[in-house]
Amino acid sequence: MDYLPLHFKLEGDRVLIVGGGDLAFNKATLLTRAGADILFVAPQFSNKVLALGDQHEFRVGNFDSADLQGVCLVVAATSDNQVNSSVAAAARAKGTPVNVVDAPDLCSVIFPAIIDRSPVLISVGTSGASPVLARSIREMMEGYLPEGIARLAQFLKETRPALKKRFSDVQLRRRVVEKFMSSPGHELAQRGDFSAAEAYLHEAPAVTGEVYLVGAGPGDPDLLTLKALQLMQKADVILYDNLVSQAVLGRARRDAQYEFVGKRSGYLSTSQESINALLVRLAMEGKRVLRLKGGDPFIFGRGGEELEELVEAGVPFQVVPGITAASGCAAYAGIPLTHRDYAQSVRFITGHPRNSQVQLPWQEFVSPGQTLVFYMGLAGLADICKNLIAHGMSQDTSVAVISKGTTAEQKMVIGSLDTVSKLVIEAQLASPTLIIVGDVVSAPSQRHEPGLSPPE
Ligand SMILES: C[S@@+](CC[C@H](N)C(=O)[O-])C[C@H]1O[C@@H](n2cnc3c(N)ncnc32)[C@H](O)[C@@H]1O
Repeated sequence: MDYLPLHFKLEGDRVLIVGGGDLAFNKATLLTRAGADILFVAPQFSNKVLALGDQHEFRVGNFDSADLQGVCLVVAATSDNQVNSSVAAAARAKGTPVNVVDAPDLCSVIFPAIIDRSPVLISVGTSGASPVLARSIREMMEGYLPEGIARLAQFLKETRPALKKRFSDVQLRRRVVEKFMSSPGHELAQRGDFSAAEAYLHEAPAVTGEVYLVGAGPGDPDLLTLKALQLMQKADVILYDNLVSQAVLGRARRDAQYEFVGKRSGYLSTSQESINALLVRLAMEGKRVLRLKGGDPFIFGRGGEELEELVEAGVPFQVVPGITAASGCAAYAGIPLTHRDYAQSVRFITGHPRNSQVQLPWQEFVSPGQTLVFYMGLAGLADICKNLIAHGMSQDTSVAVISKGTTAEQKMVIGSLDTVSKLVIEAQLASPTLIIVGDVVSAPSQRHEPGLSPPE
């Protein structure tokens, strides 16, 4: 994050604008709407600027560092780069936030595009990359906001003190408002019928915890389901492990409590038993607990074991499927797992059986017309290839090994059963990796860059 978005209270505060033409006028209009008292400094002012109002002060002349006295924000809005640079330097030396029109490098603050449905304010920024993009994102968002959103915000603002008095516990208060938001009350407030809406606001919801077992997909946050995103915003506590990417976590509720329950090199990993117990304990305390798991929770994800524990303890739960690594990686690598010319079935296999004595049914794997997908198989790749050849699969059968699939770091090595192990060692692929074996790997396919859809 290059900038921290903050909403600046300027009512009655002094802002300096250096400049007296159109650039100055544009910024001044916004600052006037926020209630700022502006000191304009320029050799001359356009009529538009002068018409902005009597509460502002106009000093004819060149910028002087004395103009910074008592000022909480500076805007350099002249068409002279040298003047703008010296205003920026003087403001920075004094520690006063400064914006220079059209020169992001000189700014310590920048103006976002805003959607103003006061008291609701939404700001959109691109860290100075493209104001045009910020404006077009704003236009897209405008369409999603219901007309009555300002009235709803006003209603919640007005009723907040009474609600605070009635429910002193913050968590409980949040649940009361959330319950209100899914009741007809919020629509009444949007229509302006505040007294009817209020009847829905004071009902205390029953405090029961719940666990959401949610699939986070293979890495790309855009592959999260809508339901996953909704629950990620609702959860009080989030339990996650190594397979859940930072980009995915970035979409979860910011003020939730985060608990890492995975393996970290040099540290003991959290046992499955203690994760199960933690889920039950947190839910019993009345919390909404999100158990975020890579891919799909029920595909090699031990989601079943966690569920058994919840059922036994009588904890309510929801399970949200996720895109499993096989689907995500294959799609982003352009490998159609069941291209009908090559495969009529696909098999998901663990390359790391729970009990190493367990024998995989290798003979079944070598029958033609199927695609094999091995999860957790990197360490055993050479053995997997050896076993398939030993049971009759041609050593020329194609194999793809995909590392960090669907993320910007996705890498893929393609070889055959007798060459791929060596190629993977040479390429130093990092985990997690997925192994796909079968003719679909070498099908004349539509390879494409990670994150892009295959061409039509
Ligand atoms: C414990 S399993 C969890 C699988 C997960 N529940 C799913 O449905 O994808 C972990 C294995 O999934 C595979 N995997 C998960 N995410 C992956 C990714 N982004 N790229 C490649 N393989 C991945 C790897 O084989 C890894 O060893």
